[in-house]
Amino acid sequence: MNYTQKMLQKDALKNKTVVVTGGGSGLGKAMSQYFLELGAKVVITSRNEDKIQKAAQELTQLTSGEVLAVPCDVRHYDQVEAVVQSANKHFGSVDVLVNNAAGNFISPTERLSANAFDTIIDIVLKGTKNCTLAFGKHWIAEKQTEKVVLNIVTTYAWTGSAYVVPSATAKAGVLAMTRSLAVEWAKYGMRFNAIAPGPFPTKGAWDRLLPGNLKEQFDLAKKVPLKRVGAHQELANLAAYLVSDFSAYINGEVITIDGGEWLKGAGQFNLLEDIPEELWDMLEAMIRAKKDR
Ligand code: COA
Repeated sequence: MNYTQKMLQKDALKNKTVVVTGGGSGLGKAMSQYFLELGAKVVITSRNEDKIQKAAQELTQLTSGEVLAVPCDVRHYDQVEAVVQSANKHFGSVDVLVNNAAGNFISPTERLSANAFDTIIDIVLKGTKNCTLAFGKHWIAEKQTEKVVLNIVTTYAWTGSAYVVPSATAKAGVLAMTRSLAVEWAKYGMRFNAIAPGPFPTKGAWDRLLPGNLKEQFDLAKKVPLKRVGAHQELANLAAYLVSDFSAYINGEVITIDGGEWLKGAGQFNLLEDIPEELWDMLEAMIRAKKDR
């Protein structure tokens, strides 16, 4: 067994319908594929109609599962409400919402126009709010219970990060929303959790976060104590667990899956890792000498 293998038992998501925003590519598509393999029906959304239609075809071929592709820009509440309608019409009901759609690019903040900042906030924070509110209101009105919302955040939702300030600001808001609604809407039978992934290479994110030869200059695997980037299946395994009934008592949690990356940046003395053994011998001698005096 290893981390690239599929973790949950077959049919773990049978009879569930899952909506994955941004499900046409990257991690959204990887999660959608695994949900389908576990017996779920999946609705994928994206702004790009061609892209999701192609992704839906591909996912159907790969898994023989039932996939519905609905074009939607999560920034617009009316479009999100239309997803609620078409998903319910097609599959009868929706059990899980995965707020995965995101927008991000690196930039010094002073170079951003007000609209550039808004664009990221609108996709990430407002988009998550739109989907959560539309599905949440529907579930409450219909008195449907045992619903799950899974938000994809990032470790810099709590540390902050230079050069991706709109994204950090928006993801911090999403995390606050996750924890707040985990408490407020538990009475309606909803659970809210989040995943904070570290580096999981995808084309969409890498082209915007490490364009050109930055990929070679900043080998993100080196920043990770485990010295590797994540595999899509290990994220899909965690997501499937968190949307399944096996995690029924987990509510309001954010689970980091980053090989220890953010903690490596946080610990005050973590940089001592670069000190070679001989230098440690010298340092130890110096420290002990102080004690003897
Ligand atoms: N640096 C500075 N400003 C930038 C920029 C960059 N690299 N890229 C876009 N902008 C600005 C634009 O100039 C525009 O501002 P303006 O109207 O004041 O000129 C604003 O951001 C919106 O850009 P636009 O291209 O009109 O928005 P869009 O809605 O078509 O695209 C993005 C949204 C910019 C987030 C685009 O990268 C995208 O579609 N991303 C989705 C996928 C993604 O980001 N995946 C990674 C997730 S980690």
